[in-house]
Amino acid sequence: MADGLPDRDISRGTKWLLLVSSLVVIAIMVGEARSNLSAEWRRHQKEYHKLLLAKALDEANKETARSFNIALQQVVVPELGVTDRCVSCHTGIDNPHMADEKQPYRLHPGTFLKDHPVSRFGCAICHRGQGAAVNNADAKAVHAYWDYPMLPGKMVQASCGQCHDPKAMKGRGGDILARGARLFESSGCRACHKLGGRGGALGIALDDEGRRIIHQLPLTELKGEHTVWNWLAEHFRDPRGVVPTSQMRNPTLTEPEIEALTTYILSLSKLTIPEDYITPDKYEQKYEALRPGRPNGAELYRQFCFSCHESGTYSRWDKISGRFIPAIRGKALAASPAGYLRRNIELGRDGTQMPGWRKSGGGLSNSEIGALEAYIRGGVKPVEMTASAQGRGNAGRGRALFAQNCRGCHGSGGKGGVAPALGSATFLSVASDAFILSTIKNGRPDTAMPAFQRAGTAGLTDVELTDLLAYIRSMK
Ligand code: HEC
Ligand code: HEC
Ligand code: HEC
Ligand code: HEC
Ligand code: HEC
Ligand code: HEC
Repeated sequence: MADGLPDRDISRGTKWLLLVSSLVVIAIMVGEARSNLSAEWRRHQKEYHKLLLAKALDEANKETARSFNIALQQVVVPELGVTDRCVSCHTGIDNPHMADEKQPYRLHPGTFLKDHPVSRFGCAICHRGQGAAVNNADAKAVHAYWDYPMLPGKMVQASCGQCHDPKAMKGRGGDILARGARLFESSGCRACHKLGGRGGALGIALDDEGRRIIHQLPLTELKGEHTVWNWLAEHFRDPRGVVPTSQMRNPTLTEPEIEALTTYILSLSKLTIPEDYITPDKYEQKYEALRPGRPNGAELYRQFCFSCHESGTYSRWDKISGRFIPAIRGKALAASPAGYLRRNIELGRDGTQMPGWRKSGGGLSNSEIGALEAYIRGGVKPVEMTASAQGRGNAGRGRALFAQNCRGCHGSGGKGGVAPALGSATFLSVASDAFILSTIKNGRPDTAMPAFQRAGTAGLTDVELTDLLAYIRSMK
């Protein structure tokens, strides 16, 4: 600052800057105030004020109507992390005089707000949407930038599952949700999907499926609106219409059932809700999961096995996976040795669609696997066979025989083709020599597995059978 000049320059510059910037600030404030005065919520409140005045018949009501104060309203519930301004527009939500008005002035339907006071719950915990927004489009958040847009129509019932047991909501305002929960258990979804640690492994676990976000999903094939609920519903109409390579079976449900199942899947969330908000029925649901009743084999089969094995009494050609799904009930496995069924159920078959079902896999308990085994066996006692063909076979000759007679169905090596993988570690460890020999000799009744040595027909010789056995044993 030797000559002072630069200093004066700076201060002049600063003054200009201050002047200009304060003009900008004033302009912004005027703009804000104007947009605030014409804000959507303010228009709605003015309209609501008129309705109040028109409906006020006695002096007391007129007085309240006159003193109605137009102001932004919000419900803050820190425990739930909620700041909901829905009531800024939905001003008549708890006013019985507004039962016949149009939205957003109308009284809330049902007893939902009586059972869940607005001051303690807000609105978005049930409806989703962007609670803090002050214009309608943002509040409903149909735009993709908000993760959880408002749930449409009766799908609001999905939210009840956060604090209530879905199955217990029948007759309590959650009929559709309760129906969806029952459908999930009866439609065989657990054959491929885990929920609460129980279920198969071909599809993803569904524990947090209700909180999927639209940008996480590959939507290129999705027909109709790009919303999570439409993504789900389309999966239940036609899985391959959404994911062309999907291994998911078509559940064949009616439209109301699809809506119910979608509502239920939307309710699945791992978000933790504060304990004060969890209801007795939800605790009961958790308790039941920890203390299951006596296992029922038929019921378990329906839930965990039916989607793939169907009735289980014949080997079924499955178009989707392009292979036979083996028969596991009835005559086909009646001659299997003790422990064979149980071990197959426990361990599954590595590298195939057949998952292992014990605790560390599909999540079934020992007694449940026991009940399944008994159900599948259907009262037929396991037989201990002794091998009729004797002596050590030659695996090299067996390989050639296999290529001729078996490879078309069982694939090359031990990997399996349209018929089971004979190199499966489970199979090789639990199938006795006698059982394998008898399977090749007699085939499997009611399945595509032919008999290769039946009385009165030309077939493989005893020596050839032992050669095949030696080759199969070498597949490991
Ligand atoms: C406990 C959950 C719950 C809460 C909390 C809740 N709602 Fe609802 N709401 C529902 C359900 C369920 C329906 C659908 C009722 C029906 O049609 O069967 C509904 C219906 C509505 C409707 C009518 C929709 C229509 O199609 O006519 C409006 C509007 C609405 N709610 C707004 C609100 C607002 C605003 C709040 C907060 C003040 C709120 N809700 C709080 C569960 C809730
Ligand atoms: C800026 C005003 C405004 C806000 C804020 C607002 N709404 Fe609305 N809401 C409306 C209007 C207007 C309608 C009727 C027209 C329509 O359906 O868009 C409506 C309709 C609805 C409906 C009925 C939809 C239907 O399909 O019939 C529901 C449910 C609803 N609002 C819930 C909510 C919830 C929950 C919130 C808070 C997350 C909220 N609203 C915030 C203005 C608002
Ligand atoms: C954030 C948690 C929460 C959500 C979401 C929720 N509720 Fe509730 N609800 C409660 C609590 C807490 C009570 C009081 C329970 C009590 O004290 O027994 C309750 C009470 C009720 C009651 C009356 C008491 C009873 O047990 O019958 C009904 C009916 C009910 N809720 C239905 C619903 C429905 C339907 C939905 C979904 C639209 C829903 N609730 C969503 C927490 C919730
Ligand atoms: C035979 C096995 C199988 C059965 C049975 C099955 N699914 Fe799937 N599911 C899959 C596979 C594999 C995928 C992944 C490919 C895809 O997205 O379609 C999938 C995908 C899904 C998705 C989409 C997951 C995502 O990416 O968001 C949902 C939701 C779903 N299934 C629910 C169900 C329900 C509910 C049932 C019962 C009605 C069911 N599934 C029955 C195998 C199955
Ligand atoms: C036309 C197709 C076809 C041919 C050819 C065929 N199999 Fe099979 N095989 C099957 C099917 C399907 C099954 C599963 C049957 C079931 O239990 O449902 C099977 C089951 C088996 C099993 C029991 C595997 C298990 O997982 O329980 C053995 C062992 C077997 N085949 C060996 C052979 C041998 C060795 C040959 C050739 C000499 C052969 N198969 C030829 C279709 C075939
Ligand atoms: C996702 C489809 C799928 C589900 C679900 C499934 N399985 Fe399987 N299962 C298969 C396939 C495929 C095979 C043949 C595997 C191979 O190639 O070795 C198989 C094989 C078996 C076998 C061996 C059959 C034989 O010929 O030796 C048994 C036993 C079995 N499953 C029982 C069950 C039981 C019990 C359940 C329910 C708890 C079940 N599976 C669920 C697909 C499935």
